[in-house]
Amino acid sequence: MSTYRIAVLGGTGPQGRGLAYRWSLAGHEVVLGSRTEERARATADQVRERAPGASVHGATNRMAVADAEVVLLAVPYEGHDALVGELAGDLAGRVVISCVNPLGFDAQGPYGLAVAAGSAAEAAAHLAPGARLVGAFHHVSAVSLWRTAEPLSHEDVLVCGDDAEAKQVAIELARPVTGRDGVDAGSLRMARQLEPLTAVLININKRYKTRSGIRVSGLES
Ligand SMILES: NC(=O)c1ccc[n+]([C@@H]2O[C@H](COP(=O)([O-])OP(=O)(O)OC[C@H]3O[C@@H](n4cnc5c(N)ncnc54)[C@H](OP(=O)(O)O)[C@@H]3O)[C@@H](O)[C@H]2O)c1
Repeated sequence: MSTYRIAVLGGTGPQGRGLAYRWSLAGHEVVLGSRTEERARATADQVRERAPGASVHGATNRMAVADAEVVLLAVPYEGHDALVGELAGDLAGRVVISCVNPLGFDAQGPYGLAVAAGSAAEAAAHLAPGARLVGAFHHVSAVSLWRTAEPLSHEDVLVCGDDAEAKQVAIELARPVTGRDGVDAGSLRMARQLEPLTAVLININKRYKTRSGIRVSGLES
């Protein structure tokens, strides 16, 4: 498998940190990005404590992108458009993976927000037209990523995108998470289905006191 230099924007949050942990254990070079360099460095220290010898460092979001081949967007949807717009030039030419789930919460629980572009991943593609956008890792829980180094073999990572090579990178990057390639789920617009599906998983988690995930049947393992 190739090794990549990966920037994780919003890498101080549990989702970015969890994926950084898995990827750095697998030998990828990871830079965690933050609005505050200090916070990113502190989170990188936490990851290295769990993965001694791993290549994980902290930087500002912009600095993190500078050397990256692959960029993970792991910020909340509220801050997403502003950040992607600000870094659009820096993201050009890079594989950009979005795991962003635009969700709202009300008295009935979580629900998928209406997004003018269709999905957060498509919004990123509009805001950073040179970036090679992929949607993936929407359904793996941050807690599961962090609490063990064991593959989440009962889960699949569904990957969508319009750039076949970029999609293949995300498919490979699923291996350190589930132990298998990610599943090609179609074009980038499939993010309209994948992102709000997370609301269903959150409801299931609440009802059954579990951390549910997605596993696709009918595929060779
Ligand atoms: N948590 C999960 O289990 C999970 C699972 C699947 C997908 N996701 C998706 O992954 C993304 C990250 O999830 P998370 O739970 O890690 O989120 P989070 O903790 O709320 O945020 C992650 C990081 O984003 C930065 N951030 C917060 N507000 C921002 C803003 N307005 N502008 C720019 N940066 C901002 C913060 O870093 P700094 O303050 O250091 O800049 C924060 O530590 C979300 O889009 C979520 O939908 C989460």
